[in-house]
Amino acid sequence: MYLGLDLGTSSLKGVIIDDEQALLAEASAPLDVSRPHSGWSEQAPSDWIAGAEAVLDSLAGKVDLSQVRGIGLSGQMHGATLLDRADEVLRTCILWNDTRSHAEAAQLDADPRFRDITGNIVFPGFTAPKLAWVKAHEPDLFERTAKVLLPKDYLRLWLTGEHVAEMSDAAGTSWLDTGARDWSDDLLAVTGMSRGHMPRLVEGSEVSGTLRTELARRWGFGNDVVVAGGGGDNAASAIGVGVVHAGQAFVSLGTSGVLFAASDGYRPAPATAVHTFCHALPGSWHQMGVILSATDSLNWFARLVGADPSTLTGELGALQAPGRGLFLPYLGGERTPLNDAAIRGAFAGLEHATDRTAATRAVLEGVTFAIRDCADALAATGTRIDSLLAVGGGSQSDYWLKAIATALDTPVSVPASGERGAAFGAARLGLMAATEQGAEVATQPRVARSFEPDPELKDAFAAGHARYVEARDRIRGLT
Ligand code: XUL
Repeated sequence: MYLGLDLGTSSLKGVIIDDEQALLAEASAPLDVSRPHSGWSEQAPSDWIAGAEAVLDSLAGKVDLSQVRGIGLSGQMHGATLLDRADEVLRTCILWNDTRSHAEAAQLDADPRFRDITGNIVFPGFTAPKLAWVKAHEPDLFERTAKVLLPKDYLRLWLTGEHVAEMSDAAGTSWLDTGARDWSDDLLAVTGMSRGHMPRLVEGSEVSGTLRTELARRWGFGNDVVVAGGGGDNAASAIGVGVVHAGQAFVSLGTSGVLFAASDGYRPAPATAVHTFCHALPGSWHQMGVILSATDSLNWFARLVGADPSTLTGELGALQAPGRGLFLPYLGGERTPLNDAAIRGAFAGLEHATDRTAATRAVLEGVTFAIRDCADALAATGTRIDSLLAVGGGSQSDYWLKAIATALDTPVSVPASGERGAAFGAARLGLMAATEQGAEVATQPRVARSFEPDPELKDAFAAGHARYVEARDRIRGLT
């Protein structure tokens, strides 16, 4: 058996799979995000540990954990967990969708070494500008910082007692030489840090440590359970749905929205605001467009109208041409293709006839058009996407998937075995580390439902996207 733990933004999930990769048990614990100021987004690392404890309690009640041979980790990327010399947490973790460090990010991004070495824009959500912000605003904490860990790597520290990161997540720090798969001493020095502040690096499918005896006893694990490097949640999801070779791609509708394509080499294209990161397997890379509010937009709207998101999407019926109502999903700024931390969302084209259903459609269409923007950005780098698998909570909405298929003119399929997300990919990485296997483990899932682009509505969606782009460009700079 293998355990996958995914430290998401809205919950921590755990899955157990057997040697044939069949799902044996799953559990999850909710997590809250605190937003004390506009653009801020934080979580207490102690909540992650409490979530992991709850998930392990639940899994131990469902399966005999003594059979687990490997554990894999996945997690929300980019967060800065600051530890002192005694590994005590110095402040709440500043998360991936926190844009407070936009000025520091712009300053680092203006130093050409960052794009050259990391292959990416220094986005405000990435880790290095967060440390630059802490240095400027909380100098005392910066001085006391002995280690900076990404969220899932803090979970690893608790599980194994070791400071270790892996390449796919490390690529989102702005400190990694992404082509060389090593920390860049130069880039660390620009932010007043050194290699000593960084964890050791392994590949996602390699062993990073073993489960601490105390934890093994507490939940009935055996001895020497290995913990794999794992992956950032997007790379781990890719492993889960078998997106490991060029031409393979998926769309993730989670808190963030991601259009992810595996690459056949390291192909940085920072000017497009596409992310180029290491994949979770040795010697492989991927590209992705990232939008900051996907299901976050639907959840925001659902709260506003006092309804459940699934009730809202359930009442939509057959796919329709985009209406006059237009939603721009920039609730906390945007990454691809805008790199604009200051932009905020908008509803436009509202009229007397705009009812709850029309507004829900506008929200789904707005996120769909933002993902179309990511597809255009990926295409500009020469990346071809033939078909897409859909993962994440939003993939439960057929309406949304039909809209994406039509707006991107690309067939979209949903995996058969429920949500084969990041936790499943993490479990696969645990299996690889424990059995010394690789990409052959990451097969593509059986497909439950497929959606072809609707030929009758393709033009209407193309026109809707053009209108979206016009509105998007008009609201930029509006404060
Ligand atoms: C990727 C990113 C998000 C988070 C969300 O660059 O910021 O997808 O990983 O979990």
